[in-house]
Amino acid sequence: MNTTRFVFCLLITLTTSAQQTLDQKVEALLSKMTLQEKIGQMNQYNGFWNFTGPSPDGGDQKIKYDHLANGLVGSMLNVRGVKEVRAVQKIAVEKSRLGIPLIFGFDLIHGYQSVFPIPLAEAASWDLEAIQRSASLSAKEAAVAGINWTFAPMVDVTRDARWGRVMEGAGEDPYLGSLIAAARVDGFQGDDLASPFTIAASAKHFAAYGFAEAGRDYNTVDIGLNTLHNIVLPPFKAAVDAGIKTFMNSFNDLNGIPATADAYLQRDLLKGEWGFDGFVVSDWGSIREMVDHGYAKDRKQAGEMSVLGGSDMDMESSIYVNELEALLEEKKINIAHIDDAVKRILKVKFELGLFDDPYLYCNEELEKQITGSQELVQANLDVAKKSIVLLKNENTILPLKKEGQKIGLIGPLAADKNSPLGNWRIAAVNNSAVSVLEGFQSYKGNKISHAQGVKLVNKVPDGFHEEVQINTTDKTGIEEAIALAKEVDVVVMVLGEYGFQSGEGRSRAFLNLPGFQQELLEKVAEVNPNIVLVVMNGRPLILNWASENIPAIVEAWHLGSQSGHAIAQVLYGDYNPSGKLPMSFPRSVGQLPIYYNHKSTGRPGADGEDMGSVFWSHYGDEKNSPLYPFGYGLSYTQFEYSPLQLSDDIMDKGGSLKASIKLKNTGKFKGKEVVQFYIQDPYASATRPVKELKGFQMVELNPGETKEVSFRITEEQLKFYNARQKWEAESGTFYVFIGSNSAVKEKKAFELR
Ligand code: NOJ
Repeated sequence: MNTTRFVFCLLITLTTSAQQTLDQKVEALLSKMTLQEKIGQMNQYNGFWNFTGPSPDGGDQKIKYDHLANGLVGSMLNVRGVKEVRAVQKIAVEKSRLGIPLIFGFDLIHGYQSVFPIPLAEAASWDLEAIQRSASLSAKEAAVAGINWTFAPMVDVTRDARWGRVMEGAGEDPYLGSLIAAARVDGFQGDDLASPFTIAASAKHFAAYGFAEAGRDYNTVDIGLNTLHNIVLPPFKAAVDAGIKTFMNSFNDLNGIPATADAYLQRDLLKGEWGFDGFVVSDWGSIREMVDHGYAKDRKQAGEMSVLGGSDMDMESSIYVNELEALLEEKKINIAHIDDAVKRILKVKFELGLFDDPYLYCNEELEKQITGSQELVQANLDVAKKSIVLLKNENTILPLKKEGQKIGLIGPLAADKNSPLGNWRIAAVNNSAVSVLEGFQSYKGNKISHAQGVKLVNKVPDGFHEEVQINTTDKTGIEEAIALAKEVDVVVMVLGEYGFQSGEGRSRAFLNLPGFQQELLEKVAEVNPNIVLVVMNGRPLILNWASENIPAIVEAWHLGSQSGHAIAQVLYGDYNPSGKLPMSFPRSVGQLPIYYNHKSTGRPGADGEDMGSVFWSHYGDEKNSPLYPFGYGLSYTQFEYSPLQLSDDIMDKGGSLKASIKLKNTGKFKGKEVVQFYIQDPYASATRPVKELKGFQMVELNPGETKEVSFRITEEQLKFYNARQKWEAESGTFYVFIGSNSAVKEKKAFELR
């Protein structure tokens, strides 16, 4: 046997025996457990302090405490900070008969105390390394505060900006979404799950939650197998391939079956075909909600259906802990279902190192050192800059001059230190973001003045978080803003959504600038046309008026703790914007859902915009195209694409081709461009999208510099879930496109044979 083979065999043997010992440990523990203790592992309660959903039973804390002490709880969520986690872990470990440690889950959606840009913003960076680093540092900051499991990444593909949760994902594209899913899983879990700096990740929401009808949260989903397999599932599969340890199912029903009880998804596909060996947690109360769905007649039947459907852990329904014993006695479920779920849960706990040290994640010293550390600040600023997308820059109003200018910062969000944190920032300190005003004040050369124009108000909706909202009744600040605008050289208007205006339960039917902000913008523009509009938001907004009338528009999302510095550095040209939109920006709500990878239809019209006749797929009063397409984003420099070259016009199955262009920086600044590579399969056994992203490269060029950028086309990229319900590439013509966004038109054909 040669050395390589020997080392390989040794590795396999070691892995197998490590696996065996892990399985043996799990089996040994399982054999000691009573039925009640097993069921306890499948029960998850919310903590005593923070809520991220409605508390079903009035949140009876006494019951929770007794259950913890009696081994009837496997996991807690929303318990955080070493002191709190240690106290709760102590009850489980010291009071319960077997002392099985709890696993502590938390929504680390975009950071723990240090808040990174919202996930949709990070997706706009198209920078997988930066995204991975953001997840990895967030995991580190949370892990040293006692957390060992996150309910992230959210990998739902999203096409409808009305849905508030688009902020939590990577946007509309399954390919980009899959790469980002894998990067985030790597970031959270690292190479060694038992390290005190890494945590288990959870892909959510399985599945199709992003397709909630009309963008209304928690609403019904009805999609066919074609969309399910080609669009919705790939990022979940990518998470499994990246070694993710847990999944969370979703609130929605999918084609008539609540996802929580969907055995096809959870048992056949996930745990069967995909070989996922981790566990599935329900979403908050989603087992109980099957009664409201009209799928289960009562709580007990809901428990039965979700066990049979493959949900291993019950989040906040208290149904498993109360009903499974009876269901087992009545033979509605069997012990193999319970044993399988418990083994999956215990295995992850072993892998996290919790059995070696239940307090592994409870180190006060590390918590002090790492929370808010410089490493986090720097990485945060880096990804925040990369997430900004330049939508318009006429007359090169940007970058701004650093000296001798009078700049007026106007808008309700200009000095706001809360909204940039966005939604899902439970562990953040309120008002802890660097505001745009502060970012500008750190540059000394210009005179900076500020007016709110439209005021903010404090509200506490539903008794949860305190929220700063944009008022919708008071216009009295507009006059002051106009007066300021008259006196300055440049106006920077900071408008958009307040931090909690997107996120869970935050669907919107109107996607314009909320409140009187549009009126403010138009009035300011009447007195000073030199406006840079900075938009802060958690979803695509409708910016038609601004795109016609305002010379510069900067998409700044909710960028997190370092927001103001990132925005100021981009506006002053210390960072040349390189972000590209991960979701199409519509012209009107009536266009939704809107996405670049749509089908052709039988009546596509010429180029999708032929307004000449009636009988084609269009609106009588709106264009079909978005205002800004997927993949769109400008730079302070300009890039020129040479004609596309293909190495051949025939490709054999199993073979490959090279597609290339030359990219030239024809502008005055050094800059980065995300070169995008799309393919179309124009006819197939099941209809295919007009274009699909298959690759991209970030290229940095000095002024005048040219580089060849090439992509390899392989059979793998041409595969899809076809009419025979197989994942295959079908012979025939394909078109290739390389360009700076999804609206690229120039194409070259090849034949697959
Ligand atoms: C409900 C949300 O849908 C889910 O994403 C989240 O992880 C849980 N609540 C826990 O907060």
